[in-house]
Amino acid sequence: MLVAVTRGVSPTIADCELTHLERTPIDIEVARAHHAAYEATLTELGCRVEQLPAEPDLPDSVFVEDVAVVLEEVAVITRPGAESRRGERSSIERTLEPYRTLAHIRSPGILDGGDVLVAGHDIHIGLTSRSDTSAIDQFRAIVGDHGYRVHGVAVRGCLHLKSAVTAVADDTLVINPERVSADHLGDRRCISVDPAEPDAANVVRVGGTILVAAAYPRTADRISAAGFDVRSVEASELAKAEGALTCCSLIFDAPERNA
Ligand code: GLY
Repeated sequence: MLVAVTRGVSPTIADCELTHLERTPIDIEVARAHHAAYEATLTELGCRVEQLPAEPDLPDSVFVEDVAVVLEEVAVITRPGAESRRGERSSIERTLEPYRTLAHIRSPGILDGGDVLVAGHDIHIGLTSRSDTSAIDQFRAIVGDHGYRVHGVAVRGCLHLKSAVTAVADDTLVINPERVSADHLGDRRCISVDPAEPDAANVVRVGGTILVAAAYPRTADRISAAGFDVRSVEASELAKAEGALTCCSLIFDAPERNA
């Protein structure tokens, strides 16, 4: 079955890291309502949601994706690029330990999971303010024996690679070509975001369904027209903290637990 690890919205999310947005007030109750609807959607789509308690001292900790990359064979615990986020790792390590062998990105490397795009056995890692070549080399050493090819990729105009491109299937990407060049992503079918929706490339694949943020109906139509089953999810309050849909979960296969 699919497990989705999530974490409650921190009461201090207003103190989150920001890289390209102006700080604007975040309504914590609205953010929690959006997050709850996201979790409910994951449950409806067949995930067993494991929600970790909110962390008052870790403003960005709802964005669990940045702290680990879970592959079939191993979970890689990252070393987040923002120092304020490194305390998020211990609880995620404890949560993932029953499911996977753990490996770690070590200093001086920095890596945010939001920069790691897995498409089949190709793993593209964004070179951003949060992820560097040292981490890419370490990642390659960890997963190379499992048959993965790891590629560094330049990104512009956004926080993470997955603000620029995500995978709706192993051979199909949703991409904002202003932020990343498709030439660097292998020979894959690309669905471009609608030009009026530059942030729409961040979508979540849950089994055969694609979650798209409610703010991006035109891109949702494009993904639907390409043959995918699309669900819309409200995520606008967390977007003020530079968090998108993929940021809010770690989704992976795990054996079903007996009751
Ligand atoms: N606020 C999201 C991040 O900076 O990691």
